[in-house]
Amino acid sequence: MEAAVVFKDLEWRYEHRKSFALNGINLEIKKNDFIGVVGANEHGKTTLVSAISGLVPHSYNGIYKGSVDVFGERVFDSDALQLATNVGIVFSDPEAQFTAMTVEEELAFGLENMGFDLSKIKERIDWAAEITLIQDLLDKSPYDISGGQKQRVAIACVLAMNPPIIIMDEPTSMIDPLGKNLIFDILRRLKEAGEHTLIVVEHNVEQLAPLADKMLLMYEGLVDRYLPTREFFSDPDYLQNRGVLAPESTEFSQWLISEGALPAITDLPLDLAGGIEATRQALKKR
Ligand SMILES: Nc1ncnc2c1ncn2[C@@H]1O[C@H](COP(=O)(O)OP(=O)(O)O)[C@@H](O)[C@H]1O
Ligand SMILES: [Mg+2]
Repeated sequence: MEAAVVFKDLEWRYEHRKSFALNGINLEIKKNDFIGVVGANEHGKTTLVSAISGLVPHSYNGIYKGSVDVFGERVFDSDALQLATNVGIVFSDPEAQFTAMTVEEELAFGLENMGFDLSKIKERIDWAAEITLIQDLLDKSPYDISGGQKQRVAIACVLAMNPPIIIMDEPTSMIDPLGKNLIFDILRRLKEAGEHTLIVVEHNVEQLAPLADKMLLMYEGLVDRYLPTREFFSDPDYLQNRGVLAPESTEFSQWLISEGALPAITDLPLDLAGGIEATRQALKKR
């Protein structure tokens, strides 16, 4: 499968910082994979995704060594339009990026800049609004809606531009639980559509793990682990030492295995339904 993103020995130090935020990243992200990114705070998750979106190095001063390619184009040498065409990014604070009077204008803004005609703009807005469940908000002010709704609008703005790579950096960290569920529903729909490379930084592994094809652990500015999701969570002690918890169902099933109640199965569950099935089998064995 084609590579969407390739890092080669990428090092990055923010100006006035003593240590490097990225310490020599080598990484390949396949097209249309869903990558979950975890790690304790300050270990370089945001900097890593910024190096894909181009914010690093284009919006910060610092020292840059090595390279990042997005669909074969050097991020370092790409202009803003090229980068925006390839990569869309959603942050934890959606409000920071709003400028328009209504949600619909907010969605149209980027499309107008790209020079699309009106019917195409309407088509893109309708599509993005449907996936993010914001059809009823289109004529509201983006400042007059709830935090969760704002975040869905921010996601819709990115979707409307339809970049092949979509990054979300802690998209649910400022949202209430029901709002969080809706964001994960959007991620599920995008994954099922299978048309985007999705890179999601998120502390909530319970909801992230069932969606992710692969998980990536950032630790001290390095990609410490990058593995298919089940394999990634198969060593909870290791992860815990790095400040990351495995999904509870995964850990519970591993405990069942260590107690001999379950055979050393390869398909560890990643969510509650899988955990219930593993428990059912353990009970049957007794
Ligand atoms: N804009 C910035 N200027 C200077 N240093 C920064 C900046 N952003 C992040 N850093 C530093 O880079 C390191 C990695 O931070 P970050 O990528 O934000 O980690 P994470 O997203 O995992 O919390 C930290 O030491 C942090 O203090
Ligand atoms: Mg961060």
